[in-house]
Amino acid sequence: MALTDFDLVLFGGSGDLAMRKLLPAMYARDVAHDLPPGARIICVGRQDCGQDEFLRTVESNAKPHIKSSTLTEAAWAKFCQRIVYASLNATEAGSYAPLVAALRTDAALTRVYYLATPPHLFAQICDNLAANALVTPNSRVVLEKPLGRDLASAKQINAEVGQVFAESQIYRIDHYLGKETVQNLMALRFGNILFEPLWRREWISDVQITIAEKLGVGNRMGYYDTSGALRDMLQNHLLQLLCIVAMEPPTSISSDAVRDSKLQVLRSLKKFTPTTLAQNIVRGQYRAGHVDGKAVPSYRDEPDAPQHSRTETFVALKAEIDTWRWAGVPFYLRTGKRMADSLAEIVVRFKQIPHSIFAQPTSSFQPNCLVIRLQPDEGLRMNLMAKTPGDGMRLKPAELELDFRESFKTPRMDAYERLLLDVLRGQLTLFMRGDELEAAWEWVEPILDNWEQNDNAPIPYTAGTWGPAAASALIGRDGLQWREEA
Ligand code: BG6
Repeated sequence: MALTDFDLVLFGGSGDLAMRKLLPAMYARDVAHDLPPGARIICVGRQDCGQDEFLRTVESNAKPHIKSSTLTEAAWAKFCQRIVYASLNATEAGSYAPLVAALRTDAALTRVYYLATPPHLFAQICDNLAANALVTPNSRVVLEKPLGRDLASAKQINAEVGQVFAESQIYRIDHYLGKETVQNLMALRFGNILFEPLWRREWISDVQITIAEKLGVGNRMGYYDTSGALRDMLQNHLLQLLCIVAMEPPTSISSDAVRDSKLQVLRSLKKFTPTTLAQNIVRGQYRAGHVDGKAVPSYRDEPDAPQHSRTETFVALKAEIDTWRWAGVPFYLRTGKRMADSLAEIVVRFKQIPHSIFAQPTSSFQPNCLVIRLQPDEGLRMNLMAKTPGDGMRLKPAELELDFRESFKTPRMDAYERLLLDVLRGQLTLFMRGDELEAAWEWVEPILDNWEQNDNAPIPYTAGTWGPAAASALIGRDGLQWREEA
């Protein structure tokens, strides 16, 4: 669907996300000829600088994040012509004149307000937009994470933003939903007859979802230390992946059908009690170690880290979904910083064959396993048992592999490119609905409360490993192993 003219307003327009992701994403779509001639990007910032000075900032901070193969002087100059800088104080309604002046008044024009700001500013920005009569029926608002830090704050954001924008105008970003393989998972599940009959407790033994990063916290300590891995990654990205693996077939790909199915999963997650919580959740914090052969400091020695910080940089847990389809199937979720490798993958393990007709015992058969790889490479791998060539009948594990890059030569889109296009087209399927956000927080909240009440410290793990040994023990108790440790 071709885009019609729009004004895209970036609050936090000179910030890190705008420079590293949003402007490069818009540039990529510009050189791909997706942007209509009248598309404009209005960057809002507090800094009192002129248009030329702002463009110099864009040149030094955003341009380095653009794929060099797409960069030409002419394309860059054309892109820069779309950018307008508006200096204002987002918290003061009286200072919005530069934005009012920059916006075009044509009522048919799509207006998108992208709030790449701390969440405590969301309500005020929405109010100030309304006070300046800037919210038209064609306006949309995009909310960047963190979308709250607990259920109450998420509800508050929903209520306050909801005073100004209708739910159908609100786009809550989870950039994992913009990743190609996540959408491919829906294609796999609902575009093939093969999987659906097997996609249930009778045939699946367990599911593992891992997002591991070699990176540490870097220069984000101010945010990260008040957040931690549970809020930063698990409540959103991992739970969204879990929803897509576990949801019932939606009636269509329409936004409400998909989001209804995801919501049902979130509401069916078994609630933790203090006992199950102690058994089924491991939190860790990295200590000094080596990543890729390079010495890296302990979390507590990172710049600006509080000396006695109890913030977790790793979390692993065992979740269960109380539905007919999934009762009794463990979903192991794991994420961490400064891990042995950077990868994001979903592993669906099927049950063991019931009986061996071969000379080998059943126990020598590796159960079938479907690995859905999101990062670093995108693909699918199915582990099967196959006969080793030659005489006799000896079976060994073999792999069927689908490498998306090899199979589809079409150029890739970064998650933000895809999601920005969807906002501009008015497609909500890949964005969280308000009730989904609240259901995710509702499930996570008892964990946060328990950690706060017990004030127990995370378990240390050495940087460059797969996290605390307790995480291996968590899955080991069920007679299983994390895939990388198998
Ligand atoms: C962000 C988190 O949402 O996702 C970061 O705040 C994390 O801490 C990042 O590094 C990971 O995203 P990706 O796309 O690099 O896997």
